Amino acid sequence: MASIGQIIFGSMIFLIILISGLIILILAIAFSVSQGTVETSTPSTVGDLGQDVVLDCKFLMSGSGKLDDVSITWLKDGLRGVVYQYKNKAAQLQGQNAQFKNRALLFQNYISKGNASLFLRNVKLGDEGVYRCSVSAAKISGTVNVNLRVAAFSAPTFTIQTNGSLTAEAQRWFPQPEVTWSSQSGQLLNSSSQYSNNSVGITRVVSVLKAPVKADDTYTCVIQNNVVKAVAEATVKDNKVTGRTYFIFSGASTKVLSLHVLLAVILLHFVLDCIVIG
Ligand SMILES: *[C@@H]1O[C@H](CO)[C@@H](O)[C@H](O)[C@H]1NC(C)=O
Ligand SMILES: *[C@@H]1O[C@H](CO)[C@@H](O)[C@H](O)[C@H]1NC(C)=O
Ligand SMILES: *[C@@H]1O[C@H](CO)[C@@H](O)[C@H](O)[C@H]1NC(C)=O
Ligand SMILES: *[C@@H]1O[C@H](CO)[C@@H](O)[C@H](O)[C@H]1NC(C)=O
Repeated sequence: MASIGQIIFGSMIFLIILISGLIILILAIAFSVSQGTVETSTPSTVGDLGQDVVLDCKFLMSGSGKLDDVSITWLKDGLRGVVYQYKNKAAQLQGQNAQFKNRALLFQNYISKGNASLFLRNVKLGDEGVYRCSVSAAKISGTVNVNLRVAAFSAPTFTIQTNGSLTAEAQRWFPQPEVTWSSQSGQLLNSSSQYSNNSVGITRVVSVLKAPVKADDTYTCVIQNNVVKAVAEATVKDNKVTGRTYFIFSGASTKVLSLHVLLAVILLHFVLDCIVIG
């Protein structure tokens, strides 16, 4: 007669074998569908109005894959036709939406290295939206999304007026930003800002710091809308001022893998959780 302990031990062994089998099955399914991955390092990116932008998309293949039959399709949500399509070793643009005519390109010489990024010239407001990069080849199949937002932003230039006031002037902002000033210790300072729009709706900002500036002091001027934040530091020395600006884009970018891999990871987690609970 088997003791209760032996029965429990036996059933635990049985469970472990069963679950191991399950894991192998799930991994086999996940990786038979896709031996490569499609990914983007910028799931959310900001284009500067009138400038060029690159929407990142790359694919990685495990050793044996061949690239001869790779096809890359860029689509935009809610838009008819393709943004760009590459198939049979050439651009296939007969189905391209007119909005992207002569404005979209792939880095064709680097497709063999896994570069499926889209180069978009002269970014317009209407380009905002969610783009989908799909790559398929013998052993790859995956899609990643890149959310493109469009704004205008430029660093301010600082000047000390004859009356001793410090002003910051920035030429290109969209949407219209807000300006705040603070001292080196982080205290908010009073200021007044004037805005003027040009013919295409881009805002020029001139902001005057109310408090008199002190020599050898540093002031921080933050120009910010819902997309971009410019942090500009003005250092006053010998009645001259020098500025230094960096930009922060809202929506931090994290690496996003294609759905296939995510699915495999989620399933694996599920199985591991079951083992722990069991
Ligand atoms: C490949 O892709 C990146 C962005 O995804 C891009 O910046 C780069 O210039 C591309 N081309 C080459 C030649 O690497
Ligand atoms: C100094 O002049 C600027 C205009 O050049 C003005 O906006 C600012 O209010 C003046 N500052 C003071 C303290 O009078
Ligand atoms: C800013 O201006 C307001 C009145 O316009 C005043 O009450 C306040 O004390 C000022 N703050 C600083 C830090 O100067
Ligand atoms: C500039 O345009 C924006 C809309 O983009 C508007 O809200 C703002 O009032 C305009 N500013 C001026 C000074 O005309």
